[in-house]
Amino acid sequence: MMAEVSPLRFITLEGGEGTGKSTLQHALAERLRAEGFDVVTTREPGGTPLAEAVRELALHPPAGADWSPMSEALLMNAARSDHLEKLIRPALAEGKWVICDRFADSTRVYQSVKGGVSSNVLKSMESTVLGDTVPTLTLVLDAPLETTSGRRSARNGPDDAFEKRATDFHHAVRQGFISLSQEEPLRCKLIDASRDVASVYAAAWRIVSQTYALNEMAG
Ligand SMILES: Nc1ncnc2c1ncn2[C@@H]1O[C@H](COP(=O)(O)OP(=O)(O)OP(=O)(O)O)[C@@H](O)[C@H]1O
Ligand SMILES: [Mg+2]
Repeated sequence: MMAEVSPLRFITLEGGEGTGKSTLQHALAERLRAEGFDVVTTREPGGTPLAEAVRELALHPPAGADWSPMSEALLMNAARSDHLEKLIRPALAEGKWVICDRFADSTRVYQSVKGGVSSNVLKSMESTVLGDTVPTLTLVLDAPLETTSGRRSARNGPDDAFEKRATDFHHAVRQGFISLSQEEPLRCKLIDASRDVASVYAAAWRIVSQTYALNEMAG
């Protein structure tokens, strides 16, 4: 059976910390550019000057201060609204590919786990902010925490507000992303990200080329 071809080329990459989202974003963008496409790579929270300022506030709050899940959810959505208005929608309207490192599903997961905001409230905020601009493909990277914590510690820089949270939080996040991909199997594809970089990329490219009816063998 032929896969249905998606009109919007809006891909989001999701999953816990250290699963390889940024690495995959880079590889996919490079491949699509080699195929001759215009590709915009961006991230959340962030992507515009205002949203990047919100990122700093959310990930590195003043010492001793913590955002509540509700405040955090509103903050992420405020940043997302700016990002959509100023960067994502204009790029998609020009026919460009947009590959976003984390997007609305991260808010669904991170702001709901462990006594966070109810999923209904989060979904209502999400649909208000996104409108029609829903990702046409979401690649959900999944790997055991033992694998991802090793990758994270191999990387430079101090932990941010999310990375600092306890192991059970990260387990809940992993489970949240698995559940998400089961709830929306058409949009969200779970990828085993415990494998080496080349295997993860190959699995991702297969899905991208099928979703958008690109020639899998080309390039
Ligand atoms: N499949 C892989 N196998 C081994 N190492 C990997 C793999 N993918 C990425 N890495 C390495 O693990 C580290 C984390 O990867 P990356 O930054 O892409 O993850 P991330 O999901 O973007 O993390 P974060 O959520 O913290 O931004 C990097 O040093 C990267 O080179
Ligand atoms: Mg990253």
